[in-house]
Amino acid sequence: MSAPPVVDLPIADERLAQDVANGLAAVEKLLRTSVESEDAFVTEASKHLIQAGGKRFRTLMVLLAAQFGDPSAPGVVPGAVVIELTHLGSLYHDDVMDEAPVRRGSPSANARWDNTVAILTGDYLFAQASDLLADLGPELIRIQAQTFSRLVQGQIRETVGPRADEDPVVHYISVLEDKTGSLIAASGRFGALLSGAPAEIEERLSRACEAIGVAWQLGDDLLDVASTSTESGKTPGTDLREGVKTLPVLYALADDPSSRLSELLSGPVPEADVEEALTLLRAHPAMARAQADLDDWVNRARDDISNLPDIPARGAFLSLCDYVVERSG
Ligand code: IPE
Ligand code: IPE
Ligand code: MG
Ligand code: MG
Repeated sequence: MSAPPVVDLPIADERLAQDVANGLAAVEKLLRTSVESEDAFVTEASKHLIQAGGKRFRTLMVLLAAQFGDPSAPGVVPGAVVIELTHLGSLYHDDVMDEAPVRRGSPSANARWDNTVAILTGDYLFAQASDLLADLGPELIRIQAQTFSRLVQGQIRETVGPRADEDPVVHYISVLEDKTGSLIAASGRFGALLSGAPAEIEERLSRACEAIGVAWQLGDDLLDVASTSTESGKTPGTDLREGVKTLPVLYALADDPSSRLSELLSGPVPEADVEEALTLLRAHPAMARAQADLDDWVNRARDDISNLPDIPARGAFLSLCDYVVERSG
């Protein structure tokens, strides 16, 4: 099983393409050294998912955002590594919570070892991120703390589900903003801040990246239904098995509560019914409706990005928006 490749944006401007390629290579190098421990097993468990693959979507956003200041400023690469390590630690933990057997086309850490190893390795990755972050100063430390707080609260609210008086779709979107939008917004903010870009640009980038983050997670939730594991590097139907009600599921349930599909989707779907549920859901108009919502979120981001200074990175951000739409469309 293969992992989805690193995001390969079409970048026409040669200098920008070179800057991004150099930045990605520098991040890769520091990412690997930052998790090295004197204990060979800790290093092996930490490198397991780094070596398995990953699209480095958040790294790309840090690097593109840094173009609005001085992209060669010394904090940019460690800043991107902090974001990528935070993301990685959250994946080790997420796969325990979701009982996911596959990640990045490889066995998840919980499948390869066990939950204890996966949880402690995630904790170790967060610690290594904090160590790098300490050199970037109190402002960045606070942003990262607030971001991580939102991410964790999003995961908790997803687990608990909507309150009785809460609209499930409103709850779902708020979960996406926190569990995924927060860290992708922080990627844009880190790039802007660490490169010394003006405050107004930092705000705009952070807002645009948060909208992209919601769309990114919405796309991920559509792919959980629509993709094969070769395309996603994950096990399709994981959300259904765990009873996580994603947007296409909520729309299908609201459409006809008495249908066979709604019966299947009313709780965690047992393994024997997953294939039937996936087949029915793939053919349901709820999928196109959720994709249309994804497009709306990307359009919000495009509005903000269009008001950024006209440099090649602005065009690259717009290409990134196209990529997010096309990935699941
Ligand atoms: C997976 O993120 C978790 C989500 C927030 C959807 P990515 O799709 O960015 O995962 P990798 O880093 O490429 O594996
Ligand atoms: C992952 O959410 C979000 C975080 C890790 C914070 P999901 O559980 O929906 O993502 P995948 O599908 O496992 O990557
Ligand atoms: Mg998951
Ligand atoms: Mg999850």
